[in-house]
Amino acid sequence: MDDVSLELDDIQSGALFERPSPYVGTYLLLSIRDRHDGRELVRRLHQLLATAGEASKTGETSLTVAFTHQGLEALGVPQTSLDSFAPEFRQGMAARAEILGDTGESGPQHWEKPLGTPDVHVAVAVLSPDEERLRAVAEKARRAHAELPGIDLIWRQDCYQLATGRTSFGFKDGIGQPAVEGSGRPATNSHEQPLKAGEIILGYPDETGELAPMPIPEVLGRNGTYVVFRKLHTKVAAYRAYLRARATTRAEEDLLGAKMVGRWQSGAPLALTPDHDDPELGSDPHRNNDFRFGDDPRGFKCPLGAHARRANPRDALDEEGSVDVRLHRMIRRGTSYGPALPDGILEDDGVERGIMFVFAGAHLKRQFEFVKTQWLNDGIFIGAPLESDPLVGPRDEAGMFTIPHRPIRRRLQDLPPFVVTRGGEYCFAPSLSALRWLADLDT
Ligand code: HEM
Repeated sequence: MDDVSLELDDIQSGALFERPSPYVGTYLLLSIRDRHDGRELVRRLHQLLATAGEASKTGETSLTVAFTHQGLEALGVPQTSLDSFAPEFRQGMAARAEILGDTGESGPQHWEKPLGTPDVHVAVAVLSPDEERLRAVAEKARRAHAELPGIDLIWRQDCYQLATGRTSFGFKDGIGQPAVEGSGRPATNSHEQPLKAGEIILGYPDETGELAPMPIPEVLGRNGTYVVFRKLHTKVAAYRAYLRARATTRAEEDLLGAKMVGRWQSGAPLALTPDHDDPELGSDPHRNNDFRFGDDPRGFKCPLGAHARRANPRDALDEEGSVDVRLHRMIRRGTSYGPALPDGILEDDGVERGIMFVFAGAHLKRQFEFVKTQWLNDGIFIGAPLESDPLVGPRDEAGMFTIPHRPIRRRLQDLPPFVVTRGGEYCFAPSLSALRWLADLDT
């Protein structure tokens, strides 16, 4: 299967290798006021990455370093190079807000500062299996910037895996991921061929047989990947209260929640176990992603509008002239932040909690933006133009969610928004050789 040879030693490991589980971590945003200090910072981060690389491939501490477009500009990357990046990256996430559905409460005017401002230049993510190992690497990353007067630490967000191993709404996350040719990581869905490496890493052929548009010079683009991060606040109490009001039993609440996601809280997919949760299946990595939707075209098992089915319809769109789902896959590396809302609480406690959503892929537009705008925010592709994603969809007006059922479907009305965007950035995670190139710039 692996006829592609990926230059794994040159690629930052965060995109291709799983984060540790359980994990604790921290995200740092840095601003470069002096390009010489900026380059020194890059030199030091490169050294850290070169030594952390092996550890992250074995589920130890992982470190990822990425830059916004303004960050590359602040380092003095030549204009011809800056202009060669994907247009969406050049504009930045805040400028794409209307398109992405980040309006109203989720609009950039309400974002947590400095997210979405021109000050955000460098993003550093450190994820470790425990506090001790996190501190060791985070301290080195801290020293890398703290000694440089031209670098400011402007934001920090800690994250950790909740004790339940689940995310704030109560669901196991991070299950549905594509296998990538040449990564050496096994596929979890036996019905799906591994993705061409160029879908995730620049410089290799993608699913179209072409190389994804790559920034110049080659040393800067090759073996890099685009990274999207979004801080997403989850309104857990509102979500629970909504289900409570529509269900007569706890079992029915669980079922409605599962219908919205496409999986039970344990991670067990509705496609394999439509009527009840199966925690053993949910925790079995050999089985919990091994399914298709083709035998359930009308969504009696897993609704067409369920979050995970929208985000990856698998074979459900396999008709002549239809969308090629493989062009819209992505690697997700999300984490949780904030404390869990204790069981049984249905009232908002005003505490920030949610997901640091992280995407990695070679195509910002046809992967992240396409899935977000065409499949999560819009329901045209499933014949339900008025329905956005029941869990994560943006909603200026109350939403609707159809659950196919015989003899009559069920329709949930008046869905409020359950997720609010607190901010985010489009970044580029360069290869190790590109980091050296950036550190050595002499413009
Ligand atoms: C707070 C916001 C979000 C929450 C709570 C959430 C939660 C989940 C859960 C519980 C799953 C099922 C478990 C799994 O397969 O990992 C899932 C799957 C997925 N989500 Fe999200 N998600 C969120 C936002 C997003 C966004 C913004 C995107 C993309 C733009 C996205 C894309 C996906 C994809 C691609 C899958 C995997 C589908 C598959 O391959 O089966 N999610 N998400």
